[in-house]
Amino acid sequence: MELLNQERCSELLEAQAHIWNHVFSYINSMSLKCAAELGIPDVIHKHGGPMTLRELVDALTGVDKSKADCLYRLMRILVHSGFFVLEKLNSSNVEGYSLTPASRLLVGDNPFSVKPFVLCELDPILTDPWQQLGRWFQNTEDQTAFHTANNGISFWEQKERNPRYSHLFDQGMSSDTAMVADVITRDCRQVFEGLDSLVDVGGGTGTLAKAIADAFPQIHCTVLDLAHVVAGLEGTRNLEYVEGDMFEFIPPSNAVLLKWILHDWSDEECIKILKKCKEAITSNDKSGKVIIIDIVIDDQKSDHKSLETQLFFDMLMMTILRGSERRENEWARLFYDAGFTDYKISSYLGLRSIIEVYP
Ligand SMILES: C[S@@+](CC[C@H](N)C(=O)[O-])C[C@H]1O[C@@H](n2cnc3c(N)ncnc32)[C@H](O)[C@@H]1O
Repeated sequence: MELLNQERCSELLEAQAHIWNHVFSYINSMSLKCAAELGIPDVIHKHGGPMTLRELVDALTGVDKSKADCLYRLMRILVHSGFFVLEKLNSSNVEGYSLTPASRLLVGDNPFSVKPFVLCELDPILTDPWQQLGRWFQNTEDQTAFHTANNGISFWEQKERNPRYSHLFDQGMSSDTAMVADVITRDCRQVFEGLDSLVDVGGGTGTLAKAIADAFPQIHCTVLDLAHVVAGLEGTRNLEYVEGDMFEFIPPSNAVLLKWILHDWSDEECIKILKKCKEAITSNDKSGKVIIIDIVIDDQKSDHKSLETQLFFDMLMMTILRGSERRENEWARLFYDAGFTDYKISSYLGLRSIIEVYP
């Protein structure tokens, strides 16, 4: 009997600890944001070796020296979550902070830096609507919790009205794309070989299209995006920018690229976009295709952390936009409903896949 009580007691304490961990998980996100804002990875990178707390406090612009103890506590949780390591300095017993692969990616000068992505995703514009999620479930009128938090205005409308956030968002997307562009122009060349034109729909400021235009000089690349995103951007010999609405018109092209587009939209909206893509594709053989870069959820094969990250994205798409992350059968249904006949999924991109969809 006593043993049973003990088991029950440890089960209860474990349950409580599990809840506490989830209640405070946002502290991981916010500590990460703080490190990016203060430029801690940049300063350690510039120092070129392990950096003591004192050196860090002295080097961080604008950080009040009296807050050294608080900086120590911020660094302690960031060491715990794998963003920094403590290493001995030369032969002494003094320890200093060094970068890990994750914080190297937070250095602003890194060509694949995810710092702009961290800052755009953890901006209050995207974190505030979570406070409204419960209210949104009970309010059938609003399309998303973002609408509930923003007097019925959609994310895309709000972004257009807010130049500060619009710039931050476009930079965040572009920083993600830099790494994707490097992988696909090196390891996935076969996806683009044989094409002579390509339109990157919702292509933002053109980071991906530029990389494709440089890697494949025979491909004429077009970036289609909303006017406030592409206005004033200059093309090159084989790259042009077109302002427009993908629900209205997609310029004719051999292939249509959709990176991080369809997960933003509902099934009905995706079918509309895909139908417009089909109209735009100029050839009907295997060279004419839609190339999608997005998550394909596979609950059976993914490890716990990867699946959790994909589900985070799914919840984000539900809360901010009307989109979702989809399983393979859900993707296939969209393709067939939009009139496509075949598709191929390749997984070169970590948590995301490349899906080639054929007319
Ligand atoms: C999640 S971002 C992805 C940007 C880019 N493809 C990337 O991955 O970096 C979605 C993009 O779709 C664009 N967009 C939203 N609605 C659009 C529309 N109706 N027509 C064209 N582009 C649109 C946004 O301006 C934004 O650049």
